[in-house]
Amino acid sequence: MSFIKKLKLNLGGKSQPLGLEIGSSAIKVVEIAEKSKIPVLQNAYIASLPRGLVVAGVIKDEESMVAELKNIWESNGIRKREISFALPGNFSMIETFSLPADTDEEEIMAQVEKRVSTTIPLKKDELTFGFDVYPPNPEEDNDNIQVIYAIARKEMVRAYRNIFEAAELTMESVKPTPVCLANVVSANTVFQKGESVLVLEIGCESTNLLVLKEGRILYSRNISIGGSMVTQIIADKLNISFGEAEKMKLNAGEMDAHLLRDAAVAVAAKLQGEVSISVGQVEGAMETPLNIQRVLITGGGSRSPFIEDELASLLNMKVEAFSPIKNMALSPKLDPTLLEVIAPRIASAIGLLLKV
Ligand SMILES: Nc1ncnc2c1ncn2[C@@H]1O[C@H](COP(=O)(O)OP(=O)(O)O)[C@@H](O)[C@H]1O
Ligand SMILES: [Mg+2]
Repeated sequence: MSFIKKLKLNLGGKSQPLGLEIGSSAIKVVEIAEKSKIPVLQNAYIASLPRGLVVAGVIKDEESMVAELKNIWESNGIRKREISFALPGNFSMIETFSLPADTDEEEIMAQVEKRVSTTIPLKKDELTFGFDVYPPNPEEDNDNIQVIYAIARKEMVRAYRNIFEAAELTMESVKPTPVCLANVVSANTVFQKGESVLVLEIGCESTNLLVLKEGRILYSRNISIGGSMVTQIIADKLNISFGEAEKMKLNAGEMDAHLLRDAAVAVAAKLQGEVSISVGQVEGAMETPLNIQRVLITGGGSRSPFIEDELASLLNMKVEAFSPIKNMALSPKLDPTLLEVIAPRIASAIGLLLKV
């Protein structure tokens, strides 16, 4: 049951691990320390991965991944080897349900197990799952607790653990990426009373979509659309390789703005379709409109030119670029300008280490 709850990390402990996220474009490692109860970002490292090494969270060549991990540790002289790992968004399923406030832990666990057995066609011993409890919301006229539980296949967690062992890293804890994102968003956002927001963490090959109500997860899903779609559109249009198109994209000054705009429209339209399905599902389940006014976007793909504008006009919502380091102190040895650029890409890794 420790998947979420027991593995929540305490800031400030001597053995605060590093936060590690492996996306399809890069490995991200962050280090956080706590000073006077404020988290301080000590270090952030990003190492690009060859395209195709990580596909939908699956590592296609374990030896190469071990070498990539060893390399990021060695080339940066990172000494700490204990890590907390963000389980890819498509590897875990997160659900919530409510129960009367006086339900004891044993009963909650029994209810979670019952739900898991009816929603997942796998045997209990093939799964790892855990839960956390949101206390009753004083704004609501009942005193129900919200139970949030996450499920993942043991096999997936084991596969990563083996790779980390081979790279001489110790996986001290693992958290589903949506939980990391909810943590980092809550730590850096002021919510209105009862406000529901949409979060889109737009990565390279996929996007994590979350609906949060005052920071609590109502819903989460992983969608196979990301920044690589923009690159692919550029590559196809200009008849150049993906690698060349990626370089051009990252140097947007050199690019035809119309082409970038068209690519942004295509990505935003796909995201809008998925958002509308997701919001419909939550509203259907809750039997009440969510009335979402704001979308927080992060992840490297959120930095694509025109994405913010196109999403705002298609979703008809206010779109804000979310920075995971807004409320965080930065170590003086870090370059704040550089950090601002990479910040959207390390949101999940930071969220791993925050206790909300
Ligand atoms: N400045 C930028 N402008 C446009 N796209 C960017 C920029 N920086 C990163 N990206 C895109 O963001 C994606 C990588 O984002 P990231 O959050 O690191 O993804 P992942 O975690 O899936 O590897 C890539 O598609 C990359 O091209
Ligand atoms: Mg990512």
